[in-house]
Amino acid sequence: MNMDHLIQPIYLVSAALFILSLLWMGHPSTARRGVLAGVIAMIAAIGGTLLLPEIQGYRWIAGALVLGSIVGIPLAMVPLTAVPQRTALSHAFGGLAAGLVGAAEFYLWTVFGEPGQKYAGHATAFNTGALVAEVLLGFLTFTGSLMAAGKLMEIIPTRPIVYKGQNAANLSLLGVAVLAGALLVFHPTWWGLFPLIIVLSLVFGVMLIIPIGGADMPTVIALLNAYAGLSAVAMGFVLDNKLLIAAGALDGSSGLILSIIMCKAMNRSFANVLFGGFGQVQTGKASTEQRTAKSATAEDAAQIMSTARLVVIIPGYGMAVAQAQHRVRELYDALIKEGVDVKFAIHPVAGRMPGHMNVLLAEAEIPYDKLIEMDEINPEMPEADAALIIGANDVVNPAARHDKNSPIYGMPIIDADKAKTVFVIKRSMNPGFAGIENELFFADNTLMLFGDAKAMLTSIVQALKE
Ligand code: TAP
Repeated sequence: MNMDHLIQPIYLVSAALFILSLLWMGHPSTARRGVLAGVIAMIAAIGGTLLLPEIQGYRWIAGALVLGSIVGIPLAMVPLTAVPQRTALSHAFGGLAAGLVGAAEFYLWTVFGEPGQKYAGHATAFNTGALVAEVLLGFLTFTGSLMAAGKLMEIIPTRPIVYKGQNAANLSLLGVAVLAGALLVFHPTWWGLFPLIIVLSLVFGVMLIIPIGGADMPTVIALLNAYAGLSAVAMGFVLDNKLLIAAGALDGSSGLILSIIMCKAMNRSFANVLFGGFGQVQTGKASTEQRTAKSATAEDAAQIMSTARLVVIIPGYGMAVAQAQHRVRELYDALIKEGVDVKFAIHPVAGRMPGHMNVLLAEAEIPYDKLIEMDEINPEMPEADAALIIGANDVVNPAARHDKNSPIYGMPIIDADKAKTVFVIKRSMNPGFAGIENELFFADNTLMLFGDAKAMLTSIVQALKE
């Protein structure tokens, strides 16, 4: 039987499911369906590939499946706050796989191929070009993603390591690798260039990440995702596998779109992320001024919020750290019971990964129509009787609107300061991700609720019930 008649329809269904998966993951109400579609698409892709006639003997594949599961299952069990580093690790494995497949193909085409078959047929200029792209992107994604994961896990120094002439040195390194690749395309028999390309790509991956601060890693990971996707596209051409081309293109473009969205939401350019050295603690002039913030108790907050018409809750990274989403739900229920209108203001980069707040609030079963995007909620902020900020900091810092010297100047923020009363739940006056002081905490209408988000919310709910 010609297996192709079976494999190509399976691949088609798989590609369609990958596309639907991305579409459905775009909204919380369909996200679960999106994940399921992605899982089925991947199983179909693997199943279809195992039917390929060139696969003879499944022993090695079974071994790889077992090994992959041993590594993959514990990796999937990490808490939500550790997802960026987990994602970096899976990109590293994806990049390594693409690089190794490319290397295996190259040596089969050249050194180890059947006599008479070498350099013939496969090693056309197009194929060799695609193979060089696959190997270059695959190996640089491997070391780059390992470095990114290491910085996020703080195994290696998170601060940007910069030196004079760094950009020129990095570009030269990449330039030599690309030149070696171009030479190989035109002279496939110069196979000695191949290990050089691998070594340069591995080194370039490390050098690319060294000057970037740990704080910028989530954006860099989205960019590395795009590289891994492009590497898979190139691998699809090398192996003549259309599904790999389609899936790689989806992966690559979604990674790129995601990093553009993140850059826009932080009002930063790619160049600024890659070369900006952002995320180092700043000592701005505001921090030297003696200003005092007013603090309040859970009972004060409960009293003011229970008599409010509209309360806007603004969650941030601290809510994720405290895992306070279920307490937020209890607060929501208690306020609704008092007849208060409660809305959630969602900033596109609140937390540490895209959709971080949406996922947590969905887990606590907050109705989706209560999650309002930043642009939609901001005109309503002056109407809010109270804004309750839960572990958010940079995304509500008014300096972004007016302080040209601030590293977050120009970043769109949620206008929490425009609410009549602002409550801020956090443990101390420590800065957030950008390492800068927040003038909102010193505003006349702001009251600080010092404490862990979960504990403070429990006390507020308790006070509301009494
Ligand atoms: P941040 O500015 O990072 O502030 C989080 C605040 O949470 C801190 O000030 C911290 O103050 C508080 N906190 C930590 N643990 C807490 C706990 N257990 N209970 C209560 N509070 C706690 O967070 P944000 O406002 O969500 O802003 C996100 C930042 O990350 C932005 O600058 C954004 O550009 C950046 N970023 C985001 C992404 C994505 S995609 N989301 C990607 C890259 C970068 P205390 O220590 O005083 O408690």
